[in-house]
Amino acid sequence: MIKLGVNIDHVATLRQARKEDFPSPLTAASICEKAGADSITAHLREDRRHIQDKDVYAIKDQLRTRLNFEMAASEEIIKIALDLKPYSVCIVPEKRQEITTEGGLDVFSQKQKLKTTVKKLKDSGIIVSMFIDPKIEQVEACAEIQADAVELHTGKYARIYKSKLNILDEIEIIKEASMTAARNNLIVNAGHGLDYKNVRNICALGGFNEFNIGFAIIAQSIFDGLEKSVRDMKDILSGY
Ligand code: PXP
Repeated sequence: MIKLGVNIDHVATLRQARKEDFPSPLTAASICEKAGADSITAHLREDRRHIQDKDVYAIKDQLRTRLNFEMAASEEIIKIALDLKPYSVCIVPEKRQEITTEGGLDVFSQKQKLKTTVKKLKDSGIIVSMFIDPKIEQVEACAEIQADAVELHTGKYARIYKSKLNILDEIEIIKEASMTAARNNLIVNAGHGLDYKNVRNICALGGFNEFNIGFAIIAQSIFDGLEKSVRDMKDILSGY
């Protein structure tokens, strides 16, 4: 059964749009927990545009569900991760101007720097995942720097799916990357742009541990409520 991590950044985006103290990402995370989410993902961006420091500490302290802390490999945020001690971190690239994380992290060209970061986090007992494009050289670089896991970026797949162009090539690329990761003893996760429809092709590939899904679930929750929206996604994943 593929596990479900729910990304709750989008709840914080709504809150920050009005600079209010609601809706609360902590309350959202606790509803996701009740609905069967296997982990909660939150991205503390350097510009603090959505999730705030107090959100990740509250989720870590008050929920039982694993916290997957998405972060850039910057000194400030590494320091916070070492203090917060989430169950896992997912290291992502971060650009100030982007609307959301646009591409995967280029691990291949920064192996030395990232190896030091991975070691620091692993030494403090945190599982370390790298958010990468589904490319063989990136997967192999993650194994080389001794990351525990990869999260394969499914954003390109989701875009092609929506445009109704041929998705078979991109599915094959994801499959190759996930098989390479498994061969290298990396835990294989995926995320970005997955929704109630397009997720099924990726599920069917097999071999995935967990998907991190945010926007589709939070958007659906406007109509169906958060609990049902999480349960519906769980139901899909539990079929694989
Ligand atoms: N995984 C990572 C590393 C992400 O940056 C995001 C987006 O914040 C997600 C998963 C979830 O993507 P989406 O919100 O499109 O489901």
